[in-house]
Amino acid sequence: MCYAIPGKVVAVNGNIAVIDYFGEKRNVLRDCEDIMIGEYVYAQGGIIIQKLPESEAEEILSTWKEQFFKLKQRDKKLSQKSIQSAPKSILSIMQKINLKKSLSRGDVYTLLRVKDKNELNLLYTFANNLRQKEHKNACCVHGIIEFSNYCKNNCFYCGIRRDKKLQRYRMRPQEIVDTARNAVQKLGFKALVLQSGEDSWYNEEKLLTIVREIRKLGVLIFLSIGIRKKETYQKLYEAGARAVLLRFETSNKRLFEKIRPDTSFEERINLLRDLKEIGYLITTGFLMGLPEETEDDLVNNLLLTQSLQPDMYSFGPLIPAPGTPFENEKLTKKEELLKFIAIARLLDRKSKIVVTTALETYGMDARREGLLAGANSLMINLTPPQYKELYDIYPQRPVNEASAAIKETIKLLHSLGRAPTDLGV
Ligand code: 5AD
Ligand code: SF4
Repeated sequence: MCYAIPGKVVAVNGNIAVIDYFGEKRNVLRDCEDIMIGEYVYAQGGIIIQKLPESEAEEILSTWKEQFFKLKQRDKKLSQKSIQSAPKSILSIMQKINLKKSLSRGDVYTLLRVKDKNELNLLYTFANNLRQKEHKNACCVHGIIEFSNYCKNNCFYCGIRRDKKLQRYRMRPQEIVDTARNAVQKLGFKALVLQSGEDSWYNEEKLLTIVREIRKLGVLIFLSIGIRKKETYQKLYEAGARAVLLRFETSNKRLFEKIRPDTSFEERINLLRDLKEIGYLITTGFLMGLPEETEDDLVNNLLLTQSLQPDMYSFGPLIPAPGTPFENEKLTKKEELLKFIAIARLLDRKSKIVVTTALETYGMDARREGLLAGANSLMINLTPPQYKELYDIYPQRPVNEASAAIKETIKLLHSLGRAPTDLGV
C-alpha cells in the first residue's frame, strides 16, 4: 500500500527543487534536506519529506508506471465538461474563470444562490474540470490520529466539549509515536494529522518529544491541537512539524464568541497569520449550518478562508451532536456542501480542498461526489480502535478499521483515476 509516488529531482534552484513524476513536474520546497539532482524523494504538501534509494524508488515506480497513465486518462475523461445551457450570470462567471480573472464578492453570492439541480451539476463539473487542469490527477491522502478527547473548551457544537459526560482518554506520547510508526511503516502514510481537544496535559515538552520522534519517520506532520502560544508553535516547527489544521469555524465574530465561550475570534485569526509567518502550511475553514448563520456569513466564510491564503481548505457541515446545545439543529443539505466545494475551487484554483470525514455522514458516495466537485484531498482515520468511538465530536463517525478504510479509499481513487503524486507548491 502506498500513499505517495516517489519523484525524481530534476532541478534545484535555491530552496526549491523540481521533481518529476512520469514527465509531470512539480515545484517543492527542499526544507532542510540536502538534495541533489538525480535523487529520488517523497514529497507531501509541497515539501520534500524523505529521500529514498534509487533501487527502491525504481522498483516502486515500475509498479506505478503503466497504471499512472491509465489513471490520468480516466481522470481526464471524468472531468470533461460540456456546457449546454446555463443562465447568463453563471456563464459570465465561468468566462471570468477561463480568463483566469478573480471572482468578485458579487460572483460568490450569485454562485451561492444556485439551487437548480442542472445548474448545480454544471457547477460541480466546471469545478472538477478546473481541478483537473490545475492539479492533474494528484490527490493527497492524510492519516489522522486523534490522541486525546480531553478539552478545556465548551464549544456549543462539539461532542467532546468540556461539559459533555463522556469517557475520556489520553494516549501516552510513546503510544502516539507507535501509532504513527505503524501508519508510516506498515500502512504507507506520508502525512499524518495529530489531533486532540485543547488539552494542556500535553505541555510543550511532551509535544516536542512526540513531534521529534515522529519526524524521524520521514512523514509530514500536521498539528491540530488548537490554540497554543506562538513560541510553542515556533519550537514545534523547529522540531519538525510543518503543517497546522486550525479552522476559524465562522467568520462572524459575534457568533464565534457566542458558540465558543471564553475563546477569542481575533486570537484565532492572529494565530493563523502567525503560523503562516513561521512557515507552516495552513489548513483552515469553517463549519456550515450554524444557527443564526446568514448568507453574508457564508460568503464571508469563503472569503476569509481565501484571504488567509491557506494551502488547504477544510470545511464541513455541523452535525448535531447529542448532549450539546446544538443537538436539535438541522444538518446542511449535501448539495449545499458540494456547492461550497465547487465555489471554493472556482475562487481559488490553486488550493487543495479536503473532503472531510464529516461528509461521510451523507453516505459513502459523498466522498466521491466531493472529489468530483473540485476536491483533491482525503483523510483516513487511524486512531486506535479502543479510542476511536470515544473521540465523539459528532455522531455516526465512520469507525471501520484503518485497513478497511484504506482499501475502500484506494478503490475510490482508482475508480476516479486519481494518483497519490504530490501537488507541489
Ligand atoms: N459537527 C461537525 N464538525 C464538528 N467539529 C466539532 N464538532 C463538530 C460537529 N458537531 C469540527 C470543528 C473542529 C474540528 C476538529 O471538528 O470544526 O474544528
Ligand atoms: Fe474543544 Fe475543539 Fe471541541 Fe471546541 S471544537 S470543544 S476546542 S475539541
